[in-house]
Amino acid sequence: MAHVLVTGAAGLLGSHLTDFLILQGHKVTGLDNLSGGYLENVNSQCNFIRLDLTNASAVDAIMKVFQFDYVYHFAAYAAVGLSPFIRNFNYQNNVLASVNLINGCIKYDVRKFIFASSMDVYGEQSPPFEEDMVPRPTDPYGIAKYAVEMDLQNAGEQFGLNYTIIRPHNVIGPRQNIWDRYRNVAGIWIRKAMTGDPLTIYGDGTQRRAFSDVKYYMDPFYQLMRNELTDCETINIGADQDYSINELAEIVQNVAHQKMGIRPRLEYLEPRNEVHKMWCNHDKAVRLLDFVDSTDLYKLVEETWEWAKDIKPKPVKDMDYEIEKNMYSYWRKSG
Ligand SMILES: NC(=O)c1ccc[n+]([C@@H]2O[C@H](COP(=O)([O-])OP(=O)(O)OC[C@H]3O[C@@H](n4cnc5c(N)ncnc54)[C@H](O)[C@@H]3O)[C@@H](O)[C@H]2O)c1
Repeated sequence: MAHVLVTGAAGLLGSHLTDFLILQGHKVTGLDNLSGGYLENVNSQCNFIRLDLTNASAVDAIMKVFQFDYVYHFAAYAAVGLSPFIRNFNYQNNVLASVNLINGCIKYDVRKFIFASSMDVYGEQSPPFEEDMVPRPTDPYGIAKYAVEMDLQNAGEQFGLNYTIIRPHNVIGPRQNIWDRYRNVAGIWIRKAMTGDPLTIYGDGTQRRAFSDVKYYMDPFYQLMRNELTDCETINIGADQDYSINELAEIVQNVAHQKMGIRPRLEYLEPRNEVHKMWCNHDKAVRLLDFVDSTDLYKLVEETWEWAKDIKPKPVKDMDYEIEKNMYSYWRKSG
């Protein structure tokens, strides 16, 4: 039995991984500041610590006391499109928070640090993205993820810290934060459809992404702490089948119609500054992690809908913007 720290344990990936690791017989400490996740997502058998990872001395103290064997670092604020307007917040929570943990892993001899990076590091290149492409992130969120990737490489070379960088993309499933107005298109639409609001599309909806079901990630994530072939590697993980945003909207419309007898209308809004086509090649995950993606997008939206209708709705929060200049009309506070 290993003692594993999962950060972001109240969020989508972290909460599912916590459940999985506990089922495998490991001791899990879950850490989260509950800024984007919810306590009800946290497994009752995990030792939960509410903590903000930007607090360097507290992170150090916890790592010193608990002497974790493995760390899965999933805590982040992953709002790609908003990140240019919250640059300080983005780098605090996505870079410095990670660095505090990396320091602890080096000091207290953690056996492996597993970092959830993102496909966003690739930026404007031709998909499918492969791991050996040089990252060219085009927004502060992607820049933050790439900075941590590079920092880990240094920590590996300088201190022998063992790590794996995993680059997921567009994961959907129960426990997703569907009340965040800035991220997770499928979650936002499920919330809007349930309240009778139109599904908002930024631009013409021809952007393409590959959406994947959270449940197919857990065993591959678990392999990362057991499989030496993944040491110091970077691995893409996610679905192979890409869809346009318009196609995803149609699926949400169909699920809404099936569940409520109403087809939400679509509302096209000004485009965002975003990469048009993004999906990845997953041969390496298949080879090293026996990864099999069996995502059925319709069923996944349906399953997430079923979960969402049974839980207590949460308030939809506004972020404090650091920059309001050039803010998109739909995110303007007065708009
Ligand atoms: N879900 C996806 O599609 C996707 C795609 C690519 C990468 N990722 C990465 O995977 C990881 C997990 O994503 P997710 O979808 O589960 O996100 P999530 O928002 O559901 O969970 C992240 C959790 O981190 C917590 N958190 C944020 N800042 C924190 C801080 N400073 N201290 C402590 N806790 C903090 C939040 O409260 C939240 O519970 C993230 O690093 C994300 O960038 C996710």
